[in-house]
Amino acid sequence: MSYLVVTDAAKQFGPSFMALNGVSLSVERGEFFTLLGPSGCGKTTLLRAIAGFNDLTSGEITLDGSNLRVVPPHQRDIGMVFQDYAVFPHLSVFDNVAFGLKPRKVPAAQIKTRVTQALEAVRLGAMAERLPAAMSGGQQQRIGLARAMVINPRLLLMDEPLSNLDAKLRIELREEIRDIQKQVDIATIYVTHDQEEALAISDRICVMNSGKIEQIGTPQEIYGNPQTRFVAEFVGTLNIFQPGAALDAMLGKLGLAHAGAATWAVRPEHLDLAGPDSDGNGSATLPGTVSKYTYLGREAHVQVETPAGRLVVQLPNPGMAATREAGEAVSVLVPRTAPMSFSANGARMGG
Ligand SMILES: Nc1ncnc2c1ncn2[C@@H]1O[C@H](COP(=O)(O)OP(=O)(O)O)[C@@H](O)[C@H]1O
Ligand SMILES: [Mg+2]
Repeated sequence: MSYLVVTDAAKQFGPSFMALNGVSLSVERGEFFTLLGPSGCGKTTLLRAIAGFNDLTSGEITLDGSNLRVVPPHQRDIGMVFQDYAVFPHLSVFDNVAFGLKPRKVPAAQIKTRVTQALEAVRLGAMAERLPAAMSGGQQQRIGLARAMVINPRLLLMDEPLSNLDAKLRIELREEIRDIQKQVDIATIYVTHDQEEALAISDRICVMNSGKIEQIGTPQEIYGNPQTRFVAEFVGTLNIFQPGAALDAMLGKLGLAHAGAATWAVRPEHLDLAGPDSDGNGSATLPGTVSKYTYLGREAHVQVETPAGRLVVQLPNPGMAATREAGEAVSVLVPRTAPMSFSANGARMGG
């Protein structure tokens, strides 16, 4: 049986609004599990229900086989890290971390050992006596992480812990959080709306939308094999083909047909560009005119107007020679394996 099991969780606010609507998932021991979805989709509501800060309207949560409904929040042994650092500026780093142990009546000698260990784990060992006020946002968030870990929690919950940090620090700290989590081996549920962060940090990702789960899978499964149009668009970018004769001809050339497919789409990095008269060399071709060229260092995005709609083609490692001018005639190459199809309700059909 899985370590944490959420079964058919629902949370209603007000007369009719469902913040969670039939959410079922399970998290394994030691797993780094991420809730990913747009603002308002119910991530925090689910996390708070697991922590015991709010009750579910219906559904069940079990941790290590026991039902959490009857366990008050302070007895759940769950560590939490929030977006706000929530450090006490007038307490030393040591005392900030020790604060988590206060209500637990831990003997003084043990406090010293455990706080020291937690500070070592987040690499703040040398700063135990400092006041947090003078420390960076990244360091303050590591204090928060140490405080969550010092209670030896059965589960670690993190709600957008990196949102208040600048981009570069966010990337550094997410690597650290992942390393620390693997080292302490505590099952962790991590909340973010940042798809790249989710891909980088997670063992598995649960994509949520409007209080429901769209898909649960490894980063590779979520990105490489999205099961709904929502997942495909939220994680990564998607070109949607315009329906019509050009699309039909292209699908015909590729031998692709799905009766009832409402939408055909393709990822920018699966397309390529060639000269206007290219035969496609096994790929289908769409004639087009470049309307924009965006150079991004390790990649370039070429926007092309075609009879099947506007497509963005992502080219890796663009050298000087790869530059395309607006107005240039090109062919967009669509490999057989690139197109994905979705039904009218957004479910993945094929491709
Ligand atoms: N206490 C509450 N009362 C009423 N509505 C709430 C309450 N808490 C959250 N909501 C609503 O529930 C939805 C989900 O919120 P939340 O779980 O915070 O989303 P997320 O964390 O994914 O951004 C939002 O529409 C939010 O406005
Ligand atoms: Mg939230």
